[in-house]
Amino acid sequence: MAQIDEISPDVFRISLYVPNLDMQFNHFLVRDEEPLLFHTGMRKTFPAVYEAVSRLIDPATLRWISWSHFEVDECGALNEWLARAPQAQAACGEVGAMVNLFDFADRAPRAFKPGDVLSTGRHEFRWVPTPHLPHGWDAGMLFEARERTLFCSDLFHQFGQLSATTTEDVVGRYNDAIARMQAHPVLLDYMPFTPQTRRRLEELAALEPRMLAAMHGSTFIGDGASALRQAADVMERHLGTELVTR
Ligand SMILES: [Fe+2]
Ligand SMILES: [Fe+2]
Repeated sequence: MAQIDEISPDVFRISLYVPNLDMQFNHFLVRDEEPLLFHTGMRKTFPAVYEAVSRLIDPATLRWISWSHFEVDECGALNEWLARAPQAQAACGEVGAMVNLFDFADRAPRAFKPGDVLSTGRHEFRWVPTPHLPHGWDAGMLFEARERTLFCSDLFHQFGQLSATTTEDVVGRYNDAIARMQAHPVLLDYMPFTPQTRRRLEELAALEPRMLAAMHGSTFIGDGASALRQAADVMERHLGTELVTR
C-alpha cells in the first residue's frame, strides 16, 4: 500500500517503495479546486496510486496531470487516469506534447510554453523547461511559488526507504545515488552532463526553492538554491568525465 504524507498544506506525497530496486517512486497530489497529480506512475502501479488518491479526493474530479519527461514512472498511467477522470487533462511542455503526447495521450494535452502558469485555485505552478535535465528532450519542472516547491523529478534521486521530508544532506544522498547508478553495468549514464547543465541548474537555483520534491527519495526542505548549485558539481564529477572502463 502506498504511503501518504502531506508535505505542505494540501500537497501530498504518495510513495511506493520497491524493495528489489531499493527505490521509492513518489507521486504528488495537490488537493485544490482543480486537483493536480504530478507523476502518474506506471500502468503496473496504477491501482496502488489510484487507491491512494481516492483516500484524498474523489479521483473522478482530478483536473490536471503533469510530469517532467516521457518515461513510464512519469506518465505511463496517463491514459488510465484520463479514462477515470473525465475532466482531466495532461499538461506538459510543448516539446513533449508535440513529439509524444499527440500520439500517446487519449485526449489532447495542454502544452506549456516556457514560463506558462497553471492555476489550480489556491496554488500556481510555473512550467520551467529543462531539456536533458534530468534527462529527456522534453524535460521540464513545475515550480509552485507560494511554498516555493520545485517538483524536480529525478534530480536529487536518493536510494532507500526514506522519510517523506528531510532537512539533511540531500546533496550527499544524491551524490551517493549517482555514484551507485554510474557503477551499475546497465543503468549507468542516468543523466547527461552537458554544456547547458550548470546553466539550467543555475536558472532553477534563481527560483530560490524552499522545497525540492524529488520523485525518488525524500522531499528536501531547506536552501534549495544552494543544493541545486552543489548538484551541478555532483553531476560534473560523476557524469561529466569519460569513464575509464566501459
Ligand atoms: Fe526519468
Ligand atoms: Fe524517475
